Amino acid sequence: MTKSFIAGLPKAELHLHIEGSLEPELMFQLARRNNIPLSYRNVAELKAAYDFNNLQDFLNIYYHGMNVLRTEQDFFDLTWAYLEKISKQTVRHIEIFFDPQGHLARGISFETTINGIHAALVKGQQQYNISFGLIMCFLRHLEEDDALATLEIGLAHRDKIIGVGLDSSEKGNPPEKFIRVFAKAKAEGFRLVAHAGEEGPPEYIYGALDKLKVDRIDHGNASMQDPVLIDRLVAEQMALTVCPLSNTKLCVVDDMKNHPLPLMLKAGIKATINSDDPAYFGGYINANYEAISPLLADDPLLLAQLARNSFSGSFLDEAGRESLISEVNAYLEQQMSL
Ligand code: ADE
Ligand code: ZN
Repeated sequence: MTKSFIAGLPKAELHLHIEGSLEPELMFQLARRNNIPLSYRNVAELKAAYDFNNLQDFLNIYYHGMNVLRTEQDFFDLTWAYLEKISKQTVRHIEIFFDPQGHLARGISFETTINGIHAALVKGQQQYNISFGLIMCFLRHLEEDDALATLEIGLAHRDKIIGVGLDSSEKGNPPEKFIRVFAKAKAEGFRLVAHAGEEGPPEYIYGALDKLKVDRIDHGNASMQDPVLIDRLVAEQMALTVCPLSNTKLCVVDDMKNHPLPLMLKAGIKATINSDDPAYFGGYINANYEAISPLLADDPLLLAQLARNSFSGSFLDEAGRESLISEVNAYLEQQMSL
């Protein structure tokens, strides 16, 4: 019952790294197509390596995996595979990340990357009615000058990009390292998001809010350690893009039954459910809702609240947000009358 309720619930995905949707089978297919060696002999061996103790363990394999992405067609195929999956999960809107520096460093041009991803997104909008926004992320383990140079390149594609984000190794790379590039991105009219408080402390969330001036926080788990920060997130109605299966896979949360999401909702935080890197973490967006649902006593009102939050926390315009929230309300009403 809950599974089918979640399956039909209209929702947005606001935290998805497109390179993290690279399934092992497609990774091997592209490795063969492009003649790229992989450190694993087959899919089973690769999957066996998906046993992470922390974020860095995962990132090492994630950067290795993206080596197989070489051509515009590869980026199209990657993005299209993701869209085909979520087209069966009642996803109505997506705002997804890509990591241009992870490709530029391998000699793959910004154009190759973005044109392949964007063409698939346009097709997804036409074929599946899934609207989209594309967010270019800066890799925080690299220097700010590298991010600034990447932003400069990205400006030529501003018509395809709604925002900038900050990802990769969090600890030791605080938001303050990226003040100039975020200020420049804001001046250029981009929306701003940053991973903060995934493995890092609450101070990194303050840094993202106060120094980077973000519009949304990715993860934000560490906010639950700081009651003053909780009050602030509630007062500002700041959306958090929470990723349950990611959190347990990367040992940010020791056990799903201890996940902070129910406490976030109870406090009044605008928390949303997302899949982060679904090919590596064992499930797409509906699997993430299903993983959290028992902690919410499978309450359809709370599941619908999460879906509403995903639209109100999105970068859609007011009319777009309202229209999709109405779809959630209509769905809830119809389900409750059954
Ligand atoms: N890059 C891809 N997934 C990430 C995550 N969960 N945290 C930080 N950087 C990432
Ligand atoms: Zn992420």
